[in-house]
Amino acid sequence: MAGRHIDLLEVGLGTGLNALLAWQEAETSCKEVHYCALEPFPVPERLWRSMDHPRALGIRELAPGYQRIMGARTGEEIQLSGHFNFRVLAQPVQDLCAGECFDLVFHDAFAPRVQPELWSMEVFGKLFRALRHGGVLVTYCAQGEVRRTMAKAGFRVERLPGPPGKREMLRAVKVQ
Ligand SMILES: C[S@@+](CC[C@H](N)C(=O)[O-])C[C@H]1O[C@@H](n2cnc3c(N)ncnc32)[C@H](O)[C@@H]1O
Repeated sequence: MAGRHIDLLEVGLGTGLNALLAWQEAETSCKEVHYCALEPFPVPERLWRSMDHPRALGIRELAPGYQRIMGARTGEEIQLSGHFNFRVLAQPVQDLCAGECFDLVFHDAFAPRVQPELWSMEVFGKLFRALRHGGVLVTYCAQGEVRRTMAKAGFRVERLPGPPGKREMLRAVKVQ
């Protein structure tokens, strides 16, 4: 991947917090990121506006770009800077048919008890096929059942210390 941009797939754009943080990181690290988010149920504008992530994170200078992210039409490509390219697709992850074109997946679906179908073999198999060799999937969920399903889909799964308030998270690598 040296010298090339990072192709990143997010499952669940939601309020765009991950996308905004990824953009901020792309600027800080001077890494080029092409961010593709799946979101079949866009969050209402009044909700993301009231949350105002750029202000809460102290990065008001990214607010106009954040508004473009949240207002993007499906499939529209938005170049937010030399380092960050964004598009959102309205399709559910179950319809994903990508083959070896992503380096990184943020699996940020609602919890398995809420949407078990998004933590299934079928979905992890699709995400495995969507990743390039050596590609990585990360998720906040560290449940044993989820780990086992990911392993059955072909991933090498590791537990990592979670972010504040979360003991563990998972990193799944496509090693084969
Ligand atoms: C936990 S939230 C994501 C939070 C988001 N990443 C953020 O930074 O705010 C889960 C999201 O998954 C979306 N979702 C629900 N079903 C989905 C599906 N079948 N495929 C992809 N995303 C889905 C929901 O609409 C919701 O916005």
